[in-house]
Parts: sequence; C-alpha cells; structure tokens
Amino acid sequence: MSRPLAVICLAAGLGKRTKVSLPKVLLPLCGRTLAASSLHAVAPLQPSRVVVVVHHQKEKVQQALQAEVGNLFPQLQFVDQGAPKGTGHAVQVAMAALGEFRGDVVVTYGDCPLITTATLQALIEVRGNSPCSVLTAYPDDPTGLGRILRDAEGRFTGIREHKDCSEQELAIDEINAGFYCFDSEALRPALTGLKPNNAQGELYLTDAVASFVGAGRASDLPTLEAAEASEITGVNSLADLAIARQWMQERILLEHLGNGVLIVDPASTWIEHGVQIGADSRILPCTVIGTGCVVGRHCEVGPFAHLRAGTVLEDGAEIGNFVEAKKTRMGAGAKAKHLTYLGDAVVGPKANIGAGTITANYDGVHKHETRIGARAFIGSGSVLVAPSQVGDDAMTGAGAIVTRGTTIGAAEVWVGVPAKKLKQREPVPPKPAKDKP
Ligand code: UD1
Ligand code: CA
Repeated sequence: MSRPLAVICLAAGLGKRTKVSLPKVLLPLCGRTLAASSLHAVAPLQPSRVVVVVHHQKEKVQQALQAEVGNLFPQLQFVDQGAPKGTGHAVQVAMAALGEFRGDVVVTYGDCPLITTATLQALIEVRGNSPCSVLTAYPDDPTGLGRILRDAEGRFTGIREHKDCSEQELAIDEINAGFYCFDSEALRPALTGLKPNNAQGELYLTDAVASFVGAGRASDLPTLEAAEASEITGVNSLADLAIARQWMQERILLEHLGNGVLIVDPASTWIEHGVQIGADSRILPCTVIGTGCVVGRHCEVGPFAHLRAGTVLEDGAEIGNFVEAKKTRMGAGAKAKHLTYLGDAVVGPKANIGAGTITANYDGVHKHETRIGARAFIGSGSVLVAPSQVGDDAMTGAGAIVTRGTTIGAAEVWVGVPAKKLKQREPVPPKPAKDKP
C-alpha cells in the first residue's frame, strides 16, 4: 500500500546567472515554465500536499504557478523562505508548512524541469523502510555538483559539496542529483540538527541525508541512478535553458512520432507541450506549433508554418508555407497553403484560402472574428477586415478588400476595393479525392 505523499519544490533562489529580469523558475520551456515542468512530473504521483518554497519575486512566481498548475493540485501551497540560507533551510520552512503530515516527502526543484514521473516513482519505491533514498547520476561534467561518498564496500556514506571537496573527492564521478524521498518522521529531527559549517555558510539538506548513516544509525541508504543523466539538468543560465529545451523538445517529438505523426525533420520542428496531433498527419520542416493546438488526422502543416494557441485543424486540413494561424478553426479539408495570416477565424470545410490572404482581426483595441463558409474560395491577396462573414460557396476576387461588418451571402462573388458584389457563383463540381502518401 502506498503512503501519503508530500512534494516540496524549492524555488526561492535568485537565478542571478540568467541575467534576465524574469524569475528563473518562470523561464519558458516548450510552452511551460521551468517550475511548472517539474510540477507536471509529480502530478501523476497524486501527492496529497505540494509546497513550493519561494522568496525572490514571490508574488510573481506564486501568481504564475497558481494560474499554470493550480488545477493540477488543489492543495498547492506557497511558503516564503525569507532570505534563502540553503537547501536545508528551505526544507525546514516547507516542513513547518506541512505541519503534522506523515508519509513520503519528495524534494524537487523549480529549476530542474526534466525530471520524470517514472524516476520519482522509482525513488519513492526504492526507499522502502529507510529514512531516505537519494537520486544519483553520472553526468559528463560533474563540476559544481555534490559528490556521492561511499565506503570500501560501496555503501553510501554521505554527500560532499563541490566547494567542500578534497582533490581526491573531486575525482568522484557519481553525483548527488538533489532529489530525495524522505520519511517525514526521520526528516524532521534531521533538519533540526543542521549547522552552517561549510564553505558557503549555508544549511545543507545534504547534511540531513548524511545524518542517517554511520554512528549507530543505518549502515546504508538506498540510492537510485537517474534513468537518463539529462533528467537532473538544472537550469542556471540561458545557455542551460537552450540545452534543456532541446532535451524536452526531443521527448515531445518522440511521443508524437510514436503516435504515427510523420515529423519529417525533428531538428527543425518545434512542438510545445499540450498539442494533440492525429495519426497520419504530416508536419513539414521549420514548423512551430504552440500549446493548446489540435491537429486532426491526415492534416498537413508546414513547411514554415506557425500554429498558435487555440488553433484547431479538422481532419485533412492543410496549413502551408509561411502561414500563421491563431485561434483559428479550419474545417475538414480546408486549405491555406501560402503566405497567409488567419487570426480568430472560423473556416468551413473544404474552403480554400488563396495565397496572401489576411484576416485583419485587430482594430487596435479589440480582436474580432472572421467566418468563412464551407467550400468558400478566397482569392489571392484578399483582406477580410473583421468582423466579417463569407457565406458557403462564396468567392472573393484577387485583391478584394472586404471591409469590416460585411456579410457576403452564400455563393456570392465579391471583388474590388472595397469589395462589392459582382454576381452569383456558378456551382463548382466537386474535385475527385487525391491519394496522398
Ligand atoms: C544542490 C545540492 C548538491 C547537488 C545539486 C544538484 C545541497 C547543499 N547541495 O546543490 O549536492 O549536487 O543541488 O543540482 O543541497 N534553493 C532554495 N532556497 C535556498 C537554497 C536553494 O529554494 O535557500 C533552491 C535554489 O533556487 C535551487 C535549488 O534549491 O533551485 C538548489 O540550490 P543550490 O544552492 O543552487 O544548490 P546546489 O549548489 O545546486
Ligand atoms: Ca548553493
């Protein structure tokens, strides 16, 4: 039977090394903030408590995370650490907020977005009845990280911070990832004994871990090696962020590829978290798809296309070269193949949006909708000033400027600047369906 779980997420650090004004834990990574990324990893573990330790720009961090992941965690709590005095101090403050909580306590970080659910689950399981389990890794470059100390039998004996290491200890390639699962009842007394007797004058959480071994205590602590060294990547700079983004992007693309989405060139394809794409759809190079987009089956997107939040492509819709779509619904089989902006548009099934079409959705103050009917044919270079409406089977001529508030009736043909009705459109015989590879 699994024990109740509390998650402590440390996010009080200053993040000076990024040199940007945004708090580090709110930097974006594939459509989520760094902190939300790490919190998403713990959500499937169904923690009964989640405490985020904040301090620098705490209002901003709290507000952003509440909006981003509040719905995942009804129990989301924020505590102000005050001036950060080390990871041990941060966990002291979080434990005070957890009050009488009994069970597993997992420590994670707001700047470690790549940690996975599976690894944290394994870390919880490997603890068994020990006071603590420790996540370790063998990164290519251990500089700056705490080293895992072991005795002659290979048993865990402690963690030494890089700055406190001897020359010999610096040669150890097994590092402390910083993630632990504690027994709450063992953690509390261990935290009270912490002293800042180290190179940084901080209260080290690692000292609490070390206090469980040796001197009449357990002879060993269970450790777990992270499945991938990349999982424990911490983001300290914008260069780290760029590298973490690549790892995360790869994960997202692999998932879509596994679902039967033909991503022709993963290296140039950006797909954020929270995008649905149906099987048999093709994503061509240099395409960017933002969080919240939905792409049906047998669709084609790109090359050089940008789908932004709220865009939905129904089955067989196509968005081609240099087309941007924002909060736009493309009906089944509708096409916009070249050089187009569609914003706040609803496009009916099988409509064809000619090259260079623009929905002028913004009047400088408000955004308005453009509705284009089924099988409508929008001539090249048309500008549809919103709000406006084009009926089913209707047509605009090349370069038509459809002024705001216009309603073009079914099967009407409008041309000119400003566009005026020219005639009724002849019925168009349906084209035979093309077979696509
Ligand atoms: C810590 C570990 C180190 C490990 C490394 C892995 C300690 C003492 N050392 O070192 O063994 O190899 O993580 O990345 O725990 N934070 C707070 N409040 C604080 C201090 C830190 O919220 O008072 C947050 C920071 O924002 C940061 C994280 O905790 O996100 C890590 O803190 P930091 O002091 O940078 O620890 P490291 O030196 O990375
Ligand atoms: Ca530190």
